[in-house]
Amino acid sequence: MSLYSALARPLLFRLPAETAHEVSMKFLAAAAAVLGRNVAPPRGRAVDCFGLRFPNAVGLAAGMDKNATALPAWPLMGFGFIEIGTVTALAQPGNPKPRVFRLPRQKALINRLGFNNEGAEAVAARLAEWKSSGRWPRVPVGINLGKSRVTALDDAPRDYAQSFRLLRGHGDYFVVNVSSPNTPGLRDLQGAAQLRAILRAIAAENAEKKPVLVKISPDLAEPQLADLVSCGEEESIAGWIATNTTLDHSSVPAGEDQEGGLSGVPLREKSDTVLRELVARTRLPVIGVGGVSDAESARAKTEAGAKLVQLYTGLVYRGPALPRQIAAESAKV
Ligand SMILES: Cc1cc2nc3c(=O)[nH]c(=O)nc-3n(C[C@H](O)[C@H](O)[C@H](O)COP(=O)(O)O)c2cc1C
Repeated sequence: MSLYSALARPLLFRLPAETAHEVSMKFLAAAAAVLGRNVAPPRGRAVDCFGLRFPNAVGLAAGMDKNATALPAWPLMGFGFIEIGTVTALAQPGNPKPRVFRLPRQKALINRLGFNNEGAEAVAARLAEWKSSGRWPRVPVGINLGKSRVTALDDAPRDYAQSFRLLRGHGDYFVVNVSSPNTPGLRDLQGAAQLRAILRAIAAENAEKKPVLVKISPDLAEPQLADLVSCGEEESIAGWIATNTTLDHSSVPAGEDQEGGLSGVPLREKSDTVLRELVARTRLPVIGVGGVSDAESARAKTEAGAKLVQLYTGLVYRGPALPRQIAAESAKV
């Protein structure tokens, strides 16, 4: 039994889920400030993708370090890349609490955070500070962008482009998140016409040709997916991330359900299915995310065609040794 499951997890799980997250992030931010200098890149098998070199294929999924407060801490756990955000153009508080719920028996979470974050300007300033402190991580850093809640859906292209303009100098790749279930109407932006307008608005600001990816929902029907893939390829995106959380709660026992997106082990099968469908349709690289909780579930994603994987919920249940363990296992095969 690890120190995490013997000691840290039982203590953290006595706290409400979001409080446990805040406590962990404070600890990691402190560790990052002290230890973040001259950290060797994490081990594993390197992957070249989107014109970037990833020291290993295991990344931190968006949502864990929304404001990049603990940026240098993640490679210490063995992560080969980090995705910060979701960041929106305007700072916003998100939905009322409580808004994150554990389902320990399912090794799952339900969240309806609603893009709580400090806004693109503040996050850009923090990233600049990390850079000038000499603690910038030696792994690729992606920045996940979302729509500000107060911005009308029709105005989404301008809103995403504004965030991109503020952050473009700070990230190695960018993600257009049109798949979180907790901002009203956001998933409608997965429609080809809406997505095309967003991608064009970002492209107009992207003189440096930073890789831009699109993160999709696991709840898309096949025809929607087909339209989306054509749109992404026509607009020359660099790749896809599959998937975000699901609104399918059929695996959640009655009485334990909550409104929001489900992540973790019960998402895995659905997420793997959409990953396979996507890989069959696209020429572009895909990052697989959803229900990675051990080396086997990570391997299933790479066998389904994912070039890289990410995880969030697995870290909550399995602890900080997990990314290094998965990277080491996958380097063996
Ligand atoms: C509490 C929580 C917050 C999240 N916030 C974001 C977010 O801000 N942006 C995003 O694109 N995905 C977000 N996600 C989704 C994850 O990045 C990931 O796609 C999803 O949880 C599936 O992976 P997992 O099963 O490994 O958790 C969040 C997930 C959780 C559990």
